[in-house]
Amino acid sequence: MALLLLRTQLVHPASRYRLLAALTLLLAASLGACDGPLAAAEPATTPYLESATERRALLEAALWQPELPYSRELLDSYGFSDLGWELLPEQTSASRPLTVTDAKRLEAGLGLTLGELTEHAPVELPTSRAGWRALGETVFTQLPLREDGYLTWLASRPSRWPDLGVTPNADGTVRGLVVFQARNSRPAVGVTCVFCHGGDGIVGRGDRELDVGAIRAEHAAEGGRDMSELLSWGPGRADVTDDGVPSVTAIPDMWGLGHAQYLNHSGAIAVSAPGTLAVRFETQYIKGHRMRSRPARQLMWAMERFLTGLQPPRESLTPTPSPTPTSDAIRAGRQQFNATCAGCHAPDAGFSGGLVAADTLAVDPAVATTPERGTGSYKVPSLIAVSANAPYFHDGSMPSLEALLESGHPFGVLDTQARQHLLAYLHTL
Ligand code: HEC
Ligand code: HEC
Repeated sequence: MALLLLRTQLVHPASRYRLLAALTLLLAASLGACDGPLAAAEPATTPYLESATERRALLEAALWQPELPYSRELLDSYGFSDLGWELLPEQTSASRPLTVTDAKRLEAGLGLTLGELTEHAPVELPTSRAGWRALGETVFTQLPLREDGYLTWLASRPSRWPDLGVTPNADGTVRGLVVFQARNSRPAVGVTCVFCHGGDGIVGRGDRELDVGAIRAEHAAEGGRDMSELLSWGPGRADVTDDGVPSVTAIPDMWGLGHAQYLNHSGAIAVSAPGTLAVRFETQYIKGHRMRSRPARQLMWAMERFLTGLQPPRESLTPTPSPTPTSDAIRAGRQQFNATCAGCHAPDAGFSGGLVAADTLAVDPAVATTPERGTGSYKVPSLIAVSANAPYFHDGSMPSLEALLESGHPFGVLDTQARQHLLAYLHTL
């Protein structure tokens, strides 16, 4: 806790990056994100699962800016043993994938049938780390986070999918859309995490094609409402806040979460201990289900285990640079990186780091200053698999690494050769 207080006070001043990086290291080590000697033995329980008091402590440690409306809502509602969200009934954890056949039925005006649902909450909890991760992947891909008018609309317009960035899977299912039993027992279309975080069919990859703004605008237009301003979001971007102030961000990849010191681009959530992500996910589902139910906590913990251990599938991601950089260039690039970049992008922390005041970066400060979750800063993102992750920055405003190094990132004045060396090195991350 002392560590966290210290870190909170240190967030902004530029001279503190190195200390922050050192603290990141400590925190990353305590998160136990990598497969180490712990891999086989799985602790029987974890503070997050133990009691409301423990969950409350995790929440309070995470919300280091308690006065933000985003924080206040959670602090008012979560982690009390005898009131608030703790008393909500547990959601159903059963679903099945939505199929193209369902979509065609809906398009033809025939109703949605429930079909055969799979229960995702296991009868017996996993006892190995691998077991928890497998359960977490199921949750990430199958558990309905919410239903929403625009999702149900999307499910019934398969002919519009190509223009909206939705591509059905080869097996006839639709990534990220599921059928589940909503309140009043009716079948409903639900969305899962891979709707946005499953681009190119790769679990955890931010979708660069999906056009959430266009989907919502088109749905609204059919209902006679004008939301055409959402068309400006463009593919791969979304505004997941609900304060009415535009706060459009790139949909992030999930690589590097095991090292994350903060969550969300503006870093409104500090990751202090195992369970921080589980709390974030639990509150995300509760809000998604309009504060009427809460997810099974074991499933949230499983998802944290899955995501903090997730590695990018490099063979399907990273384009081979051409011409292939020489090992001398890569070595020179590493030296350049360590001299110029590593103070923020800590190599031992997945090349991520703490927060940087938005006005010292050459990027749009809007998302860092939104009333709901603005902290005044952007977090230093992980650079794991960075060469495959264009476009860059919190808003996806930077098209390529070349452009970013040329003028877009105000750190280090670099000549052409130094930039080429850095590029060679960045391709290896
Ligand atoms: C509608 C698209 C959408 C869906 C569905 C969605 N997310 Fe996200 N997610 C986003 C966007 C956009 C952000 C960036 C928000 C920000 O930075 O303020 C984000 C951020 C995150 C982050 C923080 C990442 C980081 O590096 O800071 C995590 C973790 C995350 N999402 C997990 C999930 C999980 C788990 C689910 C399913 C329960 C989910 N998301 C569902 C769009 C989505
Ligand atoms: C003062 C801290 C700091 C230094 C030094 C720094 N960066 Fe960054 N970097 C950031 C922050 C903060 C962001 C996120 C900006 C945003 O989201 O808008 C970022 C973003 C990036 C991104 C985009 C990643 C993505 O997925 O969007 C790349 C690539 C990058 N930096 C590379 C470098 C390189 C290469 C260097 C050295 C030449 C460097 N950075 C030096 C703070 C820093």
